[in-house]
Amino acid sequence: MFVLLFYIILSSVPCYSSPKRNDAPVIGVLAQKVYSPQPNMTSYIAASYVKFLESAGARVVPVMINQTVEEYKTLFSSINGILFPGGGASIISSGYERAARVFYELAIEANLRGDFFPVWGTCLGFEQLTYLTSGKLLLSYSNTSGVALPLIFTNETKESRLFKGFPADLMAALASEPLTENSHRWSLTMESYNGNEELKKFYKVLSTNTDGKVEFVSTVEAYNFPVYGTQWHPEKNAFEWTRPYIPHSPSAVKTTFYMAEFFVSEARKSFHRFDSEEREQKALIYNYSPVYTGIKSDFEQIYYF
Ligand SMILES: *[C@@H]1O[C@H](CO)[C@@H](O)[C@H](O)[C@H]1NC(C)=O
Ligand SMILES: *[C@@H]1O[C@H](CO)[C@@H](O)[C@H](O)[C@H]1NC(C)=O
Ligand SMILES: *[C@@H]1O[C@H](CO)[C@@H](O)[C@H](O)[C@H]1NC(C)=O
Ligand SMILES: *[C@@H]1O[C@H](CO)[C@@H](O)[C@H](O)[C@H]1NC(C)=O
Repeated sequence: MFVLLFYIILSSVPCYSSPKRNDAPVIGVLAQKVYSPQPNMTSYIAASYVKFLESAGARVVPVMINQTVEEYKTLFSSINGILFPGGGASIISSGYERAARVFYELAIEANLRGDFFPVWGTCLGFEQLTYLTSGKLLLSYSNTSGVALPLIFTNETKESRLFKGFPADLMAALASEPLTENSHRWSLTMESYNGNEELKKFYKVLSTNTDGKVEFVSTVEAYNFPVYGTQWHPEKNAFEWTRPYIPHSPSAVKTTFYMAEFFVSEARKSFHRFDSEEREQKALIYNYSPVYTGIKSDFEQIYYF
């Protein structure tokens, strides 16, 4: 009797996950328009964002720009998180902004209902989040286009969800060595953050940086939502080699991994799924092949769509 009961319980649980955890998370990465579009090459995703998520146990689905809201809604209910990558798209009017807005709003609504859905913004993606949350363009110029910096942690860092699980030696290295690569000309200054009630209410500042003149926000997590942003590039340390200022030390590479591990562990709390295995297979980035572009671009490999 006991053996039979045990067998029934075991066989009703999918082998890849526990009831409280989704061990097969699928994360969307948002595409953006290429600088000079060509036939069949109108948008792209840098492969380092895909590898970043894959390295911590997620599979990736590209989120194409210029899809209908209905298509985005279907995709939203199929995936377990979304990453808005860095790049050069407009954060006030572009296919990138439009898609990011749809997913951000769906994520806020879902999380309020108790349907967990994490959102991550890197560099441009972080800047996009500041615009989506505040409704305002609050960025200022900073001299930070190609420099690795140590993080200046705040009094909120220690108790943050994001950094809580980081090893103490890595936190010490992040605070003292230039392990975070910055490639941006625009920043959210602490002054702008402190002057905007929406941002202050929504985001907790976990680290700042300075270009010598202005102090800007470099890592955030939302107080009450699984929404995260970094002005710096956690994915580059392990996966990008085209620029001399990208750090590759053991601590730098560990930073890539611990950041990815954190976000993927958030995605494991989401139970969205594709309505068929075939739909999932068709959506995965494995249907596309990255192109080696290291000779002429910032990225070693790029997926073109
Ligand atoms: C573009 O893609 C379509 C189908 O995806 C294909 O039929 C066509 O040959 C491609 N065109 C070029 C110029 O590669
Ligand atoms: C997306 O739509 C915009 C505006 O309609 C257009 O300029 C752009 O070329 C489209 N991009 C793609 C990748 O289809
Ligand atoms: C910008 O920062 C770099 C170091 O990252 C420094 O060499 C350069 O002088 C700075 N430029 C200005 C205009 O402050
Ligand atoms: C951190 O400092 C700010 C401003 O000095 C303060 O408002 C906040 O309560 C502090 N947070 C913690 C966790 O100590």
